[in-house]
Amino acid sequence: MRALDFKRTQLARTLVRGARRARRPHTIVEARRRRSELVRRFLRDRRVLSRYEREVRQSGLMPHLLEAGRAHLAAVEAAGGSYSLGAITYEEGVYLYSILRSLRPRVAVETGVANGFSTAFSLLALEANAEGELHSVDLPREVGKDYDPDAFYAGEGRAGIPPGSEPGWLIPDELKRRWSLVLGRSQDVLPGLLERLGTIDSFMHDSEHSAECMRFEYEQAWPALRDGGVLLSDDVNSTPAFFEFADRAGREPIFIGRGLAFLVKGP
Ligand SMILES: C[S@@+](CC[C@H](N)C(=O)[O-])C[C@H]1O[C@@H](n2cnc3c(N)ncnc32)[C@H](O)[C@@H]1O
Repeated sequence: MRALDFKRTQLARTLVRGARRARRPHTIVEARRRRSELVRRFLRDRRVLSRYEREVRQSGLMPHLLEAGRAHLAAVEAAGGSYSLGAITYEEGVYLYSILRSLRPRVAVETGVANGFSTAFSLLALEANAEGELHSVDLPREVGKDYDPDAFYAGEGRAGIPPGSEPGWLIPDELKRRWSLVLGRSQDVLPGLLERLGTIDSFMHDSEHSAECMRFEYEQAWPALRDGGVLLSDDVNSTPAFFEFADRAGREPIFIGRGLAFLVKGP
């Protein structure tokens, strides 16, 4: 079997597995529970979530992201390596959008851009709010490029961007006016960025999922967050760091995906 056919078969298997999982009752129950927890503990009104879901549908972002996903797959196939999109799911993106629509951040910060899925949903929310700025940090990995073995954390999911592209290449241009990107390891550049920004309204971790880096980012971001601000994190199940931090902060996580959760900072 040619490499291309093999990858397509793999993709078909992944889709079939996903469809089977979606039919499993406990997966559906979990998804419903996440949805009602988001409404009960943060958005407060089911109709508000429905309105935000409609806004994302009407924005045309979804077909744009699907097209970008196909372009990414072609780039990965051409390079012949094993790379991922590293992206949050559509459902997670809509919930992230809803949180930022409701919170109306003046200053939002995130780490981990890669191709730009979470960034695109966040910027779409800021555009709909007609206010706010998003500051992102990313240490990009280009598909097919050789890196020093120490350049990335070994447990990394190998999210890659197409050769010659920039982090966030799939973000529609019209959403980029509220965005600024700092390139580098978050361990090196996040403290300076936060110091420059002062008080922030939201923070999202989706960069290096080592316990040390997760802990480091939460500890940096939390004091900068205003009361009522939110700290989101992807891959919370990959290490104990998020749950330990939530315990220390005395906050109960709200899940918006299987591995994506957030904490609300109290007064
Ligand atoms: C999981 S991907 C981000 C996916 C993105 N949030 C989305 O939804 O499309 C992680 C990104 O963080 C980058 N990264 C890895 N280690 C990093 C570090 N120490 N500091 C900053 N970025 C890092 C990776 O190269 C990759 O671009």
